[in-house]
Amino acid sequence: MVIKIGVLTLSDRASAGVYADESGIAIQNILKEWIIGEINFTYRVIPDEYDLITANLIQMCEIGCDIIFTTGGTGPALRDVTPEATEKVCQKMLPGFGELMRSVSLKYVPTAILSRQSAGIRDKSLIVNLPGQPKAIKECLEPIFPAIPYCLDLIGASYIECDESKIKVFRPKKK
Ligand code: MTE
Repeated sequence: MVIKIGVLTLSDRASAGVYADESGIAIQNILKEWIIGEINFTYRVIPDEYDLITANLIQMCEIGCDIIFTTGGTGPALRDVTPEATEKVCQKMLPGFGELMRSVSLKYVPTAILSRQSAGIRDKSLIVNLPGQPKAIKECLEPIFPAIPYCLDLIGASYIECDESKIKVFRPKKK
């Protein structure tokens, strides 16, 4: 089965070509390393515009993305609206993702508490906000990823298998 993954980079400057997006690329490279089987990525780089973000998230869900990772726009600046757009399109929020990312990230930078990143479910898609810093991608993906395959099982998305030598995922044993 092909796993469908959306990667949405929110950056005024990357979308304008001021610099190349490194974070969205890093997400794809890490997932290709961890997940066994074919992945079909839908990758977009757009400015920090609330309506554009909600429209892209909804569209990625409609084309059947199992997971959508956003990167950027989670800080306190005026144009940082990724968490608000995520909450708007989700039927259910999963605050544990943000809580874990913030607590793990505090080991690296005191500014981790400025990140308002969250996660949630829309239909059969899991949406996860990652911070914008390229180096923050692996720092945040590593602690949260072990819970993602089981979350996808629970919402009826694709079954994900991973290379155990690279990342250990956790599925509770059936009673
Ligand atoms: N988390 C990790 N692991 N590493 C980081 O360097 N940067 C922080 C925070 N979380 C950072 C991090 C900073 S400086 C900000 S402002 C917030 O993420 C939000 O960043 P964003 O608006 O680019 O998403």
